[in-house]
Amino acid sequence: MLRRDLNRMALAWALSAWAGVSPALASGRRLPGPAWQTNPFALGVASGQPRPDSVVLWTRLVFADADAAWQAQPQTVQCEVFADEALRQPVRQWQLETDGRRGHSVHVTATGLQPGRTYWYRFVCGSASSPVGRTRTAPALDARVSQLRIAQASCQHYEQGYYVAHREMAQRELDFVLFLGDYIYESSNAKYRVRSHLGGVPKTLDEYRARHAQYKGDADLRACHAAHPWVMTWDDHEVVNDYANDLDRDYSDPSVFLRRRAAAYQAYFEHMPLRIGPDPVVPHQMRIHDRMAWGQLAEVWTLDCRQYRDHQACPDPNRGGARVVVGCDALQSARRSMLGNAQEAWLMQGLADSTRRWKLIAQSTQMSSSGVATPLGRSSFNDAWDGYPMARERLLSGIADMRLHNALVLGGDVHMNVAANLRVRPNDEQSPVVASEIVTTSVSSRGMGESMLAAIRDNNPDIRHARSDERGYTLLEIRPDGATATFRATPFPVQPDSVLRDQARYEVLAGRAGVQAA
Ligand SMILES: [Fe+2]
Repeated sequence: MLRRDLNRMALAWALSAWAGVSPALASGRRLPGPAWQTNPFALGVASGQPRPDSVVLWTRLVFADADAAWQAQPQTVQCEVFADEALRQPVRQWQLETDGRRGHSVHVTATGLQPGRTYWYRFVCGSASSPVGRTRTAPALDARVSQLRIAQASCQHYEQGYYVAHREMAQRELDFVLFLGDYIYESSNAKYRVRSHLGGVPKTLDEYRARHAQYKGDADLRACHAAHPWVMTWDDHEVVNDYANDLDRDYSDPSVFLRRRAAAYQAYFEHMPLRIGPDPVVPHQMRIHDRMAWGQLAEVWTLDCRQYRDHQACPDPNRGGARVVVGCDALQSARRSMLGNAQEAWLMQGLADSTRRWKLIAQSTQMSSSGVATPLGRSSFNDAWDGYPMARERLLSGIADMRLHNALVLGGDVHMNVAANLRVRPNDEQSPVVASEIVTTSVSSRGMGESMLAAIRDNNPDIRHARSDERGYTLLEIRPDGATATFRATPFPVQPDSVLRDQARYEVLAGRAGVQAA
């Protein structure tokens, strides 16, 4: 079938799935509740955090003007899980109440499921039913799994391109989508706009809710959520560009900034298939880092590189946040941390304990060095791992000491495809390669210029592949004997009907750290 036809099918499927206002329940009983004028499930459905016996199912009710009266009342939503696509074999159902305090979001931890199985699900509220989602549980913990298929993605600035990557991911056979941050963008750049954010830069809960709702208004994004479970972490733009812990780049009073962070985290939770939301007592804290197993084949860590990190080193006193620094002695402090002490200790303990073949360390940014020689010394981009070199060294030394040969670091954030070797001392031939890195390009956000990238390539032999000119996602196939990363990309994300092709393919062999062109 032509890809164009596949694309049309994906679009038609995404639209048809939520066109129906159907009162039919698995039990044949109509749920009491509103007779809706407009389907309140316009943001679609999603699933995530798969486990062998459970998965999180998500939706959020939105209210058209004609249905606004219902908004003030709590609403009962039924969630139904089926064993078949035709929805003839009900498995379980749950009834939940939701209200405006949680943005009328619904999160169901669907338990009691079979491992390694596909399920279908939908939500019903009054006269309306949601689109049907498809999801998949993780294999049994002791299962000998032959393959794990992941679509790795990040950075989807709504204004800078269309979600052709999501359109293709929705059509793929995948176990899950791994989204590594910059799901929404708070900011705009009038220069590169093919469609527009509604409203200004969000700061309040309602403003962040509106931004998330606008992103979920994209049919390709909804289709990708409905097609696969997602495993997620965040980066900075979910709150504001370049924030670090309690500090934004305007040097706002931390107590003011933490209120904004709490609003952003709450809105993020309300729109994502996550088990845990913000801490009810300390709402600017929300645990997102997580660990999951894929049978005996792989262990996956999703890390939080924003909430607990030390502030960027050697900042500009007038405008904080990310910058390229040279001769910054503070970088060498062993106390500086990207993950925070507790998360770092948790990760190292987990890596030491895990008996699974592949250790997939999924995090938001780039771990390999991208410094460039200058007359005053080597430069460091202080927002990525180059800004936390001693923390990187601790992590990679730990991997070397534990003799983990199958550690694969997965990243995003930098809007380019990267395949790199990771050494305790970056780019030093005397320091053995101890892990491999795959960074995925952005879904839509613009990448850096070629001259800058050429300098990065020239100065960093550990980087075997780096291209910032194309948008897309990365297909990962993890097998007992090796892992393959295929960069799927297009130079034309600003054309709504553009299609992706293979930009490059890299391989990591089991037992031998390092990437090689396949
Ligand atoms: Fe980004």
